Amino acid sequence: MNFTYQNPTLIEFGSKKISQISKLIPQNQKVFVVYGGGSIKKNGVYDQVKEALKNHSWCEFGGIEPNPTKETLDKAIAKGREEKVDYVLAVGGGSVADGCKYIINAFYHDGDGWDLLEGKFQPEKALPLGVVLTLAATGSESNTGAVITKAETKEKRFFHSQFSYPKFAILDPNVLKSLDDRQLANGIIDSFIHVCEQYVTQPHGSLAQDYYSEGLLRGLKELAENYDKRDELWYSNLMWMANQALNGLIGLGVPQDWGTHFIGHELSGLYGIDHGRTLAIIQPQLFRELDDEKKDKLLQMGRNVFGIDTQDPEEVIVKLEDLYSSLNVDLNLSNYMNDENIKENVTTLLEKHGFSKFGDRGTINKQVVEKVLNRALKG
Ligand code: NZQ
Ligand code: ZN
Repeated sequence: MNFTYQNPTLIEFGSKKISQISKLIPQNQKVFVVYGGGSIKKNGVYDQVKEALKNHSWCEFGGIEPNPTKETLDKAIAKGREEKVDYVLAVGGGSVADGCKYIINAFYHDGDGWDLLEGKFQPEKALPLGVVLTLAATGSESNTGAVITKAETKEKRFFHSQFSYPKFAILDPNVLKSLDDRQLANGIIDSFIHVCEQYVTQPHGSLAQDYYSEGLLRGLKELAENYDKRDELWYSNLMWMANQALNGLIGLGVPQDWGTHFIGHELSGLYGIDHGRTLAIIQPQLFRELDDEKKDKLLQMGRNVFGIDTQDPEEVIVKLEDLYSSLNVDLNLSNYMNDENIKENVTTLLEKHGFSKFGDRGTINKQVVEKVLNRALKG
């Protein structure tokens, strides 16, 4: 274990916390409220934000898409510059939070904002960011990651920046109640698989990381099992576990394998499949391909998360599939797209994005990805 850790994002968690914005953003700052396709206008979140900002000067930009595109975000930057905004407030899910990370980091850049995604531009300053989270899934509200799509080329890429930690994140679980089954399932699965990417690697003996990960996996599994009995506490648990799954803590100083995410991102970019669904489709098949190298951790997950004592990783993989299917997620990739060039398209983009060998042991290559896609296409 060898790491430096500081997560500076202030979290305001609980009912009615949106009102705190009035104190968290300095009064003299002109606020740029950025949101998605309009869910916040139907569920009362927009009105709460408006009320909290009544003594601030502010303007807005709506229309950030799920899997946010640089094309839309560039328009937001143009508006923000025109309005001379000082502070960005993201009101939405991971897509809006990520989109705002692009906005704040590219704000003072003379060139193309996409340079951030290609590693050609490292910002030296950025606008401050606050987040009102409306969908529990990505952990984006208190991490430095952002995943952005270039519609023109169907590329979905990510970048990290030290400026991307939001100054604050408001987590009011009540706002999750307007989410539909599809988005709730996506959120549970995305959070669950964030933990897996930092846990199903190889034995390392870092007990805090391992056992905390198992606690989160057990908790998320319990939420899936109690899906039909959702109450206040259920939503609170989802919101907090989704945050903990990807705020950096459980991955400190341990091997990580983001292979499922890297393949999943290409599927979202190419075919517009929801992020959470791409993960549920790919992960079990990737584990099947890598069952030997992941055997120890899969069996440990079998024991400590699913309560099964087995020597066969396949039994644990089936448990994972059962969990995702129980949330009505179709695990057959063929039912989401129809493209006979899928394998070539995915592997070409992975290669272009620098992923020719990945995974915690560097064993995921073009051949492995093709085999995984073959399996996923059969479902
Ligand atoms: O756009 P609106 O109208 O707001 O509707 C959204 C959107 O259609 C809706 N929604 C959000 N909150 C709602 C709501 N509907 C009703 N009630 C609410 N309270 O849900 C839809 C999906 O929203 P989106 O923000 O796209 O979902 P999510 O939070 O799952 O974010 C997915 C994006 O995050 C990226 C993904 O790749 C994807 O682009 N990720 C970001 C990560 C990060 N920054 O660390 C890590 C993740 O692994 C992931 O890659
Ligand atoms: Zn994810």
